[in-house]
Amino acid sequence: MAGNNDSPLPVRTGFLGWLNKRLPVDVFVRNQLTGYYAPKNFNFWYFFGSLALLVLVMQLLTGVFLTMHYKVGELTAFDSVEYIMREVPYGWLLRYLHSTGASAFFIVVYLHMFRAMLYGSYKSPRELLWLFGMVIYLALMAEAFMGYVLPWGNMSFWGAQVIVNLFGTIPVIGPGLVEWIRGDYGIADATLNRFFSLHVVAVPLVLLLLVTLHLVALHESGSNNPDGVEIKEKKDAKGNPLDGIPFHPYYTVKDIVGVGVFLTLFCAVVFFMPTFGGIFLEKPNFEIANPMSTPEHIAPVWYFTPFYAILRAVPDQQMGALLMALSLVCFFLLPWLDRSPVKSTRYRGWIWKSALTIFVISFIGLGYLGLEPPSGLYTMLARIFSVTYFAFFVLMPWYSKIDPVKPVPERVTNDHG
Ligand code: HEM
Repeated sequence: MAGNNDSPLPVRTGFLGWLNKRLPVDVFVRNQLTGYYAPKNFNFWYFFGSLALLVLVMQLLTGVFLTMHYKVGELTAFDSVEYIMREVPYGWLLRYLHSTGASAFFIVVYLHMFRAMLYGSYKSPRELLWLFGMVIYLALMAEAFMGYVLPWGNMSFWGAQVIVNLFGTIPVIGPGLVEWIRGDYGIADATLNRFFSLHVVAVPLVLLLLVTLHLVALHESGSNNPDGVEIKEKKDAKGNPLDGIPFHPYYTVKDIVGVGVFLTLFCAVVFFMPTFGGIFLEKPNFEIANPMSTPEHIAPVWYFTPFYAILRAVPDQQMGALLMALSLVCFFLLPWLDRSPVKSTRYRGWIWKSALTIFVISFIGLGYLGLEPPSGLYTMLARIFSVTYFAFFVLMPWYSKIDPVKPVPERVTNDHG
């Protein structure tokens, strides 16, 4: 735990005194907020964790109210969403907050993950924090996928068809597994019902538990920072890190700036372009699910498309599904693939910087290609980006070791670059 938790607690009388005898409110505030020391050199990349928390709460709240009006079932789901949009007071707002919130969640989480890669936050002693993050990411993908099926639009149906069938590529158990997931011989009422139950109850509970573990692990190791210097190593006479400042009030106030900027952009999308040109809400999903009419071009929502592009880049479907799964596994291994003695990109050499740049271009490139129908040139590009994507991870133990690093300062710098 970063900081000295022996500092005295405030003397309380009245209700707060009564409460503190029964619930350790002041101890919690001291240990986790006023006495929790975070590095003083956080830059804007450090907004995204608190923003992810904000979006999580927003999704839970808007989800609760949507569930009051949504009617699960293949005969009622689509119409109930139309009813929410047209008849329920502010129903349109609830739905757009929730659908835009899903995309915002992934934007925030992708930036949050990229920050960890930029500053080597996954490296020792934060490997477990990173692993909890990765499990959160998988749970978030499952949550978003099942949520997308609920309106029972045509893309809900066909998207579910494609994704669930991927499990069929697993040798031996595949076909049985697909039937078990669907609960029927096709994507049907039973599938919709179980996805509703999982989306509304089970996965949100898992997410809340995982986020709690993520934060407990964070407070145990303490935050990393843009210099990748461990602030716990240099403490003052009271045992507080010399380069740390109390999380509250300094970062609680600073995070409000991030919240303000985020909500401005978020509201601009919700009120002026909620479908975001068919990227946040796809056009075929404004038509009811129809097993007899396949949409011209089936594509998942944008946050899945980098992985979808890897799947399509491989001619053999079984191999494609395997590579897609491996493209996620790679992220889990990052703490052990990266052999550099230096955490932050600031003090790494040109090899690491080039590798990270190529990786980002590949990820965004694959994301774009996954949205587009496959053509000769696009398939070729998807193959090239898939190779560079995997090369980033597979070659990392080698290039991260020979990378010409710079000396890391002993204390954090105030250079906000
Ligand atoms: C619901 C999703 C998530 C929430 C609410 C969340 C929340 C947070 C918060 C509040 C922090 C501290 C503030 C900050 O450093 O920005 C943090 C740090 C961190 N998170 Fe997450 N997180 C989420 C998902 C993820 C994912 C998907 C990953 C990676 C796979 C991840 C990896 C990390 C790491 C490595 C740190 C420490 C960063 C550092 O100290 O430099 N998180 N998270």
